[in-house]
Amino acid sequence: MHPWVKAYKEKKFSIHTLSPSIVISNNIHLLKKNGVALDIGCGNGRNSIFLAQHEYTVESIDVADLNWRKDIPPTLKEHITFKKTSIEDFVWKESYYDVVVLTRVIQYISQKEVEKLIKNIVHSLTNEGVLLLSYNESGGIHTIQDIAVPKFSHPISTVQNILETYFNYVDITKGSSISKHVNYVKEIVSYDIVAKDLK
Ligand SMILES: C[S@@+](CC[C@H](N)C(=O)[O-])C[C@H]1O[C@@H](n2cnc3c(N)ncnc32)[C@H](O)[C@@H]1O
Repeated sequence: MHPWVKAYKEKKFSIHTLSPSIVISNNIHLLKKNGVALDIGCGNGRNSIFLAQHEYTVESIDVADLNWRKDIPPTLKEHITFKKTSIEDFVWKESYYDVVVLTRVIQYISQKEVEKLIKNIVHSLTNEGVLLLSYNESGGIHTIQDIAVPKFSHPISTVQNILETYFNYVDITKGSSISKHVNYVKEIVSYDIVAKDLK
């Protein structure tokens, strides 16, 4: 069983909010109208739902199926397709998505996997496509040994370098907070990133 499926099943980890990620809500104005989105590691679907509410057709993927689509209105549901798959097994379409959403996922995959993932995302984005990415550099789940999922701490300089290989525009906003969703005590250093204008 994939460690994430196990963590959800054993209720070691859960997502308690349906609010979209700030990197999505703050940048929705940048996105092409009526576009196609890919939400990678969608969790409980909060960002997929938000994008569908903004006229997007959304493909959502996650290695764990939290069955979140049962709770959404049919008018939104028809704009969202969920596929239970790992990032590693996902079949990438070429030049297809107007926006790719990758929130709170890369801290759970290795640097090699991040490099491969970004390369695949670039392959899958249209020329005008936008990548919206957020991640924690430290803190949060990293401090909880009981949640037995792989954890990585990618320095922002590494992530920036990878992105700048492919994108002319990489905008990074640093956030720092105590998570409101889970009772973490350690401060979380997080980044919201907009990458666009493919090289
Ligand atoms: C912290 S949650 C974030 C969920 C959502 N993106 C959000 O911002 O609310 C991380 C999600 O990534 C998924 N995930 C982690 N590694 C994955 C992988 N290798 N392939 C597919 N999904 C993965 C997990 O199942 C989990 O739902």
